Amino acid sequence: MTERETSDTTGDSVAAGRVLVFDSGMGGLTVAREIQRMAPALKVDYAADTGFFPYGDKSDEALRARLPALAEALVRDAEPDVFVIACNTASTLALEDVRARLDIPVVGTVPAVKPAAALTKTGVIALLATPGTIRRAYTAKLIEDFASEITVVLHGSVELVRLAEAVAAGEPHDADGFVKALAPIFEAQSGEDVDTVVLACTHFPLVRAQLAASAPRPITFIDSGAAIARQTLRVLEARGEAEDKDARPGGRLYITDQGGGHERLIKVCARFGFSDVWPPVLIEA
Ligand code: DGL
Repeated sequence: MTERETSDTTGDSVAAGRVLVFDSGMGGLTVAREIQRMAPALKVDYAADTGFFPYGDKSDEALRARLPALAEALVRDAEPDVFVIACNTASTLALEDVRARLDIPVVGTVPAVKPAAALTKTGVIALLATPGTIRRAYTAKLIEDFASEITVVLHGSVELVRLAEAVAAGEPHDADGFVKALAPIFEAQSGEDVDTVVLACTHFPLVRAQLAASAPRPITFIDSGAAIARQTLRVLEARGEAEDKDARPGGRLYITDQGGGHERLIKVCARFGFSDVWPPVLIEA
């Protein structure tokens, strides 16, 4: 552990600057929470592509066409020092496209296949993600590079993304939804040996407890939130001593449409410590 990581975990981080955390919806809040925990003094704004949620069932073409331009529009307004794509579905497809478009560092989200492969005792892990992330060449390469010696069960679920948002917002939901979302993993070939599940969608840590309670036996659930937060702080640190560009505090919320979902997003963002969520800033993508 570096000096920096040691101090991060105690909440003493000295990282300065502004970070914009981006996702399709509420999932990126699980990453923002880790960043805020490690570096409470950092200004963190949040952007949710409410007008195109969920990403998990969108075509690669549609997401590719949308993401770089949207990232650019968000960065123009928020003026962050680092843009964090807190979304596996977007990162595994368009991280390089977004990097090419922006002139600030971009931190992406990679499914935690490597730590899961190191942790499994049975040699069988599962990747629980969106259908988009499951079919990516990026994901296949990750498995080839870090999990070629073990068995990886793949399962994509958009229903679980929606369920996670409903639970986070405290709304009524299908109580059996978690068992249903996990069933294809444990019923798959080798599913009876799965001991570690990678939460490869940033929405899923929102319902980690419900997933754990719905699994047929004790399972280790791993996500990349803390690793993304550490990487974000490393990138900020590498920029050297940052001067404060503006007086605006963090805590702002960006959305891309005024449709049905944004009110509960505002509520959940406020619960996650975002203090400037009303009115949210509308960015036309
Ligand atoms: N939170 C996102 C992810 O990590 C995407 C969820 C969705 O919009 O389908 O993949």
